[in-house]
Amino acid sequence: MFIEIQSLIFAIMDTKDYIDFNSQLKMETGLHERDRAGVQDFVLLENYQSEEAFIGNLKKRFQEDLIYTYIGQVLISVNPYKQLPIYTDDHVKAYRNKHFYEMPPHIFAVTDNAFRSLIEENRGQCVLISGESGSGKTEASKKGAAVHCRLLRKSDDRRGRQGQAAEEQSRAGGLR
Ligand SMILES: Nc1ncnc2c1ncn2[C@@H]1O[C@H](COP(=O)(O)OP(=O)(O)OP(=O)(O)O)[C@@H](O)[C@H]1O
Ligand SMILES: [Mg+2]
Repeated sequence: MFIEIQSLIFAIMDTKDYIDFNSQLKMETGLHERDRAGVQDFVLLENYQSEEAFIGNLKKRFQEDLIYTYIGQVLISVNPYKQLPIYTDDHVKAYRNKHFYEMPPHIFAVTDNAFRSLIEENRGQCVLISGESGSGKTEASKKGAAVHCRLLRKSDDRRGRQGQAAEEQSRAGGLR
C-alpha cells in the first residue's frame, strides 16, 4: 500500500455520518478495538521505536478510514484520496472546547486548540504543516481555515465578517 503522510505540528461529518461518528468515537475509545484499529497516539505503541510497528499502526487505521493519529501533540494525517464524512458541523461542535486527548485525533482538534490559544493568550498562533507533494497539506489548511472562519463568525460579528470573507476566499481556491 502506498501512503503519503503529512504531519501537522501543534496540534483538524452529513448525518448518516453522525451515527458513524458516534460509532467511530466508540471504536476509537474501546480498548478491545485496538487490535483492529491500532492506537490513536503512537506513544501508546509498545514497540514505539520500530518503524515497522509505526507503519503497521498507520495501515490498520487507514484500513478503518482513520486517517489521523497523534504523536503527542503532533498530528499525522494519511491522504485518504476520497471524501470522508468527518468534516461536518457536528464534528466541529464535537471538537469545540475539548481538551486535546478527550477526542480521537483530528485536524479540528488542532484548529480548535489554536483558536482557543489565540483568544486566551491574545497572540498569533502558528500551525506548521509538512509533507510530500500531494500528501494533503492544502486540503488540511482549507479544512482548518474553514473551521477557524466558522468559529470567528460565531465569536464576534466584526471578526465574523472578516472570517466569512476569508472562508469565501478559501473556497474560491485562495489556498494553494
Ligand atoms: N483530507 C482529505 N480528504 C479527501 N481528499 C484529500 C484529503 N487530503 C488530500 N486529499 C486529496 O489529495 C489531493 C492532493 O492534496 P493537496 O493538494 O492538499 O496536496 P498538497 O500536499 O498540498 O500537495 P502540493 O505539495 O503539491 O501542493 C487533493 O486534491 C484531494 O483530492
Ligand atoms: Mg498544496
